[in-house]
Amino acid sequence: MKHLLKMMDLSSEEIIEILNLADQLKYEQKHGIPHDHLKGKTLGMIFEKASTRTRVSFETGMYQLGGYPLFLSSSEMQIGRGEPVEDTARVLSRYLDGIMIRTFKQEEVEKLAEYGSIPIINGLTDYCHPCQVLADLLTVREYKNKLDGLNMCYIGDGNNMANSLIVGCLKTGMNVSVACPEGYHPDKTVMDFTKAYSNFKLTADPKEAAADADVLFTDVWASMGQESEAEKRKIAFKGYQINDDVMSVAHGDALVLHCLPAHREEEITAKVFEEHAAEIFDEAENRLHAQKAVMVKLMG
Ligand code: CP
Ligand code: NVA
Repeated sequence: MKHLLKMMDLSSEEIIEILNLADQLKYEQKHGIPHDHLKGKTLGMIFEKASTRTRVSFETGMYQLGGYPLFLSSSEMQIGRGEPVEDTARVLSRYLDGIMIRTFKQEEVEKLAEYGSIPIINGLTDYCHPCQVLADLLTVREYKNKLDGLNMCYIGDGNNMANSLIVGCLKTGMNVSVACPEGYHPDKTVMDFTKAYSNFKLTADPKEAAADADVLFTDVWASMGQESEAEKRKIAFKGYQINDDVMSVAHGDALVLHCLPAHREEEITAKVFEEHAAEIFDEAENRLHAQKAVMVKLMG
């Protein structure tokens, strides 16, 4: 494993290895055991979109590992003025030991990896969000003590989160049921990937997807960069919500997870959100531990 560009690139074994390492690093951090595996290393963090969790968890994680996190806003870099990503990759590879990038196009992340000579970590693109899904899998495993055989449900937009969740959950043996409205399905590459799995289902009916679920996920109706479509999407996604009605068909002890930020009364009701706040904020914390594992694996 040289980079973390998308879940599709990881084998099932590599995913489990990252989760196991994350468990170990979480234990070390909680018990004050030094784990400065990245002493003297620098991670550049390029942001072309807003972030709370990704920025703070990578920055803190790098510090806890004994390394240095360098925040780079793309609007203040030459890349924001049109310097090609191919050149940026080759220049930054001379200074840094790894790059985390949050941007729009997946292609840009792939190019950074192609032209650079250091590990590249995808901190979210329009196509996928692998760091989030590693933290999600870590959280599910903590609560349920396993992944294999669990029923996972995703309700909402077939967006970056859906794309990564589908691949990550199928690769770890979960049964995956997804409810998306017509016109907002997951990416074609992901739908092609699911063809090899008989335990994958795509429906337009949220309750059908939620039946017997052990864990339910959702995400915002309009992602970053889709602000101008927000009103249109409010109509298209009406009913694609995790609420009491949907929860009534899931298992009684089902988890509800959300990558955050959440829009209450849109994709999830405030009531269900607060009833599941414990696991949702554990999930947010697990960004830190999962990403520390990714950094140690790639940069250690
Ligand atoms: N879930 C997530 O990636 O959050 P941020 O946008 O705050 O980084
Ligand atoms: N789908 C959301 C995820 C945010 C973490 C977005 O891209 O804005």
